[in-house]
Amino acid sequence: MNILLIGSGGREHALAWKMAQSPLVDVVHCAPGNPGMDQVGPCFDVAADDIDGLVKLALQIEPDLVVIGPEAPLALGLSDILRARGFDVFGPSKEAAQLEASKAFSKARMTKYGVPTAAYGEFTEAAPAKAFLRKMSAPYVLKADGLAAGKGVVIAETLEEADAEIDEMLSGKFGSASATLVIEEFMHGEEASVFVITDGEGAIFLPAAQDHKRVGDGDIGPNTGGMGAYAPAPIVSEEIMSRVRREIATPMLKGMAKDGMPYQGVLYIGIMVTAEGPKVVEFNARFGDPECQVLMKGLKGDIVPAILVAATGGLKGNEEAFAALLELEDFQPTATVVLAANGYPGSYEKGSVIEGVKSAGALDGVTVFHAGTDVTADGKLVAKGGRVLNVTASGASLREAVDRAYAGVDAIDWPGGFCRRDIGWRAL
Ligand code: AMP
Ligand code: GLY
Repeated sequence: MNILLIGSGGREHALAWKMAQSPLVDVVHCAPGNPGMDQVGPCFDVAADDIDGLVKLALQIEPDLVVIGPEAPLALGLSDILRARGFDVFGPSKEAAQLEASKAFSKARMTKYGVPTAAYGEFTEAAPAKAFLRKMSAPYVLKADGLAAGKGVVIAETLEEADAEIDEMLSGKFGSASATLVIEEFMHGEEASVFVITDGEGAIFLPAAQDHKRVGDGDIGPNTGGMGAYAPAPIVSEEIMSRVRREIATPMLKGMAKDGMPYQGVLYIGIMVTAEGPKVVEFNARFGDPECQVLMKGLKGDIVPAILVAATGGLKGNEEAFAALLELEDFQPTATVVLAANGYPGSYEKGSVIEGVKSAGALDGVTVFHAGTDVTADGKLVAKGGRVLNVTASGASLREAVDRAYAGVDAIDWPGGFCRRDIGWRAL
């Protein structure tokens, strides 16, 4: 079969790399892709948020399956438009993708379906928002309702800071994304990411992963898109996983289906493991980046049947068979280290030359996924984004996986970039 994969990050390179290994797959077409994906299948220069361009491309290629990587096209309704044209699509409808695109929508659904999450209020005016704050205790969690490229959450230590943030957000700090605010109770605990592949009725749970959001070692400094990840994450014990299944995933999927917006694709459940058990921090409508890279690398079996059944239906009652095809029992401990351009997540330079990626990828257990890379006219690999490469490795243990990933990092010569040196520390 032929697949059209939308996106250009490390997440999509990992998906393309994994799907191309399936005996079911002939070609993975990518739009827009990146220099790493270019080595997997043909890349087409159509941006991931160019909905008309992507529909045109799909009509031209006639893929058997479209896989949507990032959130932007989901929030713009690409899945619905392609489904209406008869394509099978892995990715939720515009309505169901509101679980990520609107925090207020997501909180309202969780409340309706009785899913454990932080207590909250939703506001469009400053006065009631500030009055609500005074019923909470510090630290204060303020969230822009809409998509804000991962920057829409502010944790304020004092009332003064929180008041000022409310004024800024409501007067357009994140444009229309912060015209509505969600204010939440602060949850204490350790975070983890759980991924559920679903056709809206059945569900396959992948091993839990943990991201490293802060830019610096020891989890300090500003938030980023993610500086590294590993799986499985031992904080999500079997008991916690079964509670996530029972208390979070099942009621959410059932409720969404019952309310006429079945969720198809991968549901990313960001949880806080609190003293009372797992609670939802956020939902995303896609795989995590860089969590996807460790999941694709660590999975021994074929990912394509699971992705296909999520797109076409028929998973309920057959979960065990699909889990067996994924060989979930044999998932290998895996870690990924993000190499980012100096200055990231602030402003950074583009165009610095990167060498040694091939030697890194030749090391035992190591695969290097591209994110923000480019190739110059004379064939040099250069940096073009903030997060640039994901050095990913599996091993017999997480320790071995991490050591192999850092051996890969050390084989790369890129003075213009940096990475965290402590990926996996909570588990190790
Ligand atoms: P979000 O975009 O909703 O995932 O929020 C970004 C980050 O802010 C999360 O990964 C958490 O580290 C933190 N965060 C969000 N909501 C809460 C909360 N209610 N309590 C504690 N930390 C939170
Ligand atoms: N790694 C966090 C995210 O993909 O949202």
